[in-house]
Amino acid sequence: MIPPNSELNVCVLGLGYIGLPTAALLASRGIHVQGVDVVPQTVETINQGKVQIVEPDLDLMVQAATRSGKLQAADKPDPADIFIIAVPTPTQDDASGIPQPCIDAVLDAARAIAAVAQPGNLIIVESTSPVGTTRKVAQTLADSGMDPDTLHLAYCPERVLPGRIMKELVENDRIIGGLTPVAATAAKAFYQRFVMGTIYETTAETAEMVKLSENAYRDLNIAFANELSIISHNLGVDANELIRLANCHPRVNILQPGCGVGGHCIAVDPWFIVASDPENSKLIQQARKTNDYKSQWVMERIKEKYRGLDKKHPTVALCGLAFKPNIDDLRHAPALEIALQLNQETDATFLHVEPNISQHDTLTITPFQEAIQEADLIVLLVAHTPFLDGSLDSIDAPVLDFTCH
Ligand SMILES: NC(=O)c1ccc[n+]([C@@H]2O[C@H](COP(=O)([O-])OP(=O)(O)OC[C@H]3O[C@@H](n4cnc5c(N)ncnc54)[C@H](O)[C@@H]3O)[C@@H](O)[C@H]2O)c1
Repeated sequence: MIPPNSELNVCVLGLGYIGLPTAALLASRGIHVQGVDVVPQTVETINQGKVQIVEPDLDLMVQAATRSGKLQAADKPDPADIFIIAVPTPTQDDASGIPQPCIDAVLDAARAIAAVAQPGNLIIVESTSPVGTTRKVAQTLADSGMDPDTLHLAYCPERVLPGRIMKELVENDRIIGGLTPVAATAAKAFYQRFVMGTIYETTAETAEMVKLSENAYRDLNIAFANELSIISHNLGVDANELIRLANCHPRVNILQPGCGVGGHCIAVDPWFIVASDPENSKLIQQARKTNDYKSQWVMERIKEKYRGLDKKHPTVALCGLAFKPNIDDLRHAPALEIALQLNQETDATFLHVEPNISQHDTLTITPFQEAIQEADLIVLLVAHTPFLDGSLDSIDAPVLDFTCH
């Protein structure tokens, strides 16, 4: 029997884009939340009521949660009723050419939990994970001396969209996969305390595969749009108009092409499926390759264009570095990769525009208005709202637009 919110103790491991909003939301419902992170600076920042990431409304919620004493951060877990694992699950390069999932942080978190877990505890993995991870967490707990049969383990993938996390944490439907039906039911009872969407129960393995399939589905469909955009260019057809018109069909919904696919989810998670069955995942592999190829193709078009200008050493404004419009996140961002690679070229000067960040480690950031006044060629890589304010209409320099808006 799980106690009421005011008597419930939840420990969230990993205080990034997923863990911190979850911890703050739970604290706002009167639950005692301990947030755990391995980065001391993150723990310190949160205990001061501040945030280390940009997400609408998160700062106010964390401030209120720490002020009320309901949220406290630490570097290792204390005993709790429920543990939520929201740590990173990146890929690592492999000699096979297929990036392999790395679940080291999930298993480290499991070992930290094993040191304090008690029979009856509910342990939930939220990190996007290859199929079999929740079972490996149970094995890790067993290897650490816990009897996993005395614990309830469930996998509950996170589906929130950056920029809307606080809203979607509450409103989205959730999939809950239990290692046992009892674990799934216990996890569902927990999520029902703050989720308004429908909660579906299944097995841990199915829930793990559902999350990966969702992101592979997006990647595949974007690859189709990117492929169409290249073919359209070669045929002299406007890809944006083509897609708009094709989407008038009642059963067609082609996604938007761009300069590649980035971010830490869609560009990464399909590899988790591929790594588990390379022989039978050819379509998923091809989608990854097609989306990566689109960035190379965009880069070649930019070079071709500025080399064709009537100027020996032109100035090129590269507008947008983030992995999608109106965010500051540069993780796996194709526009950033394009900018970094173009900077190796010596026959042009590149100006980098990214209105959502003030500085970058290696690139100098130029304000949009200044860049478009100076440039001999303007390249739109990301459709950030400030680029679409009409300023480009009065500029003489040619514009290469790889966005869909
Ligand atoms: N960000 C998203 O939009 C999103 C959406 C859906 C799913 N996910 C998945 O959620 C998981 C977390 O992603 P994120 O974006 O929050 O990552 P993040 O990098 O923003 O945050 C992860 C945090 O975990 C901490 N950490 C690492 N190892 C730890 C450990 N052993 N114990 C405690 N803390 C540890 C890191 O210091 C970091 O602060 C990933 O699996 C990701 O794929 C993310």
